[in-house]
Amino acid sequence: FQTLCAMDACRLLEDAGISMITIHGRTRSQQYSGAANWDIIDECARAMSVPVIGNGDIATAQAAAYVKENTAVSGVMIGRAAMENPWIFADTRYFLLHGVLPPARQPREKTDLILRHTRMALDSGHYGDELHTMRHMRSRILAYTKGFPGAKEMRSRLVRVSSLRELEELLSGLPR
Ligand SMILES: Cc1cc2nc3c(=O)[nH]c(=O)nc-3n(C[C@H](O)[C@H](O)[C@H](O)COP(=O)(O)O)c2cc1C
Repeated sequence: FQTLCAMDACRLLEDAGISMITIHGRTRSQQYSGAANWDIIDECARAMSVPVIGNGDIATAQAAAYVKENTAVSGVMIGRAAMENPWIFADTRYFLLHGVLPPARQPREKTDLILRHTRMALDSGHYGDELHTMRHMRSRILAYTKGFPGAKEMRSRLVRVSSLRELEELLSGLPR
């Protein structure tokens, strides 16, 4: 079951007085398979009088800049890429201003972020005790450390990390 009804939905929403629309360029049944259809997002953005935000598969600052230049969207929404690179928004702003990416972030900045996120998760009490919180954080930490220098060995241990102390010790092995 695949119905491409974005334009019809947009028209209905516009008639109903909506002030902004965000479109993800896949049908529901596609889930995350295939590539997001930016042609349809663009068509809708051109046809609408209200701002249209595009979403789907934007994984780099360059990709965000590309759709800004080449489609009629008023903005982009970034999902999964931000879980690996939370700086993608700042990077995109920098790229739009200067035409190049900002200097590469030091591993230290990334480890600081991982520790900050983990401490916030622990402090929130949202996930239960330390072990449960660390279990919840494992997938987040693995996303953050993708592509780290020498990450392979460290990641096989991060999969099992069970306390903040253990995490601090593991990350302290990285170059500063
Ligand atoms: C962990 C996670 C949680 C999400 N939660 C929501 C949600 O609550 N509501 C929603 O509309 N979309 C949700 N999405 C979908 C995203 O908003 C976005 O449409 C989708 O990930 C495609 O964009 P991307 O290619 O930049 O990831 C979620 C996506 C992820 C990865």
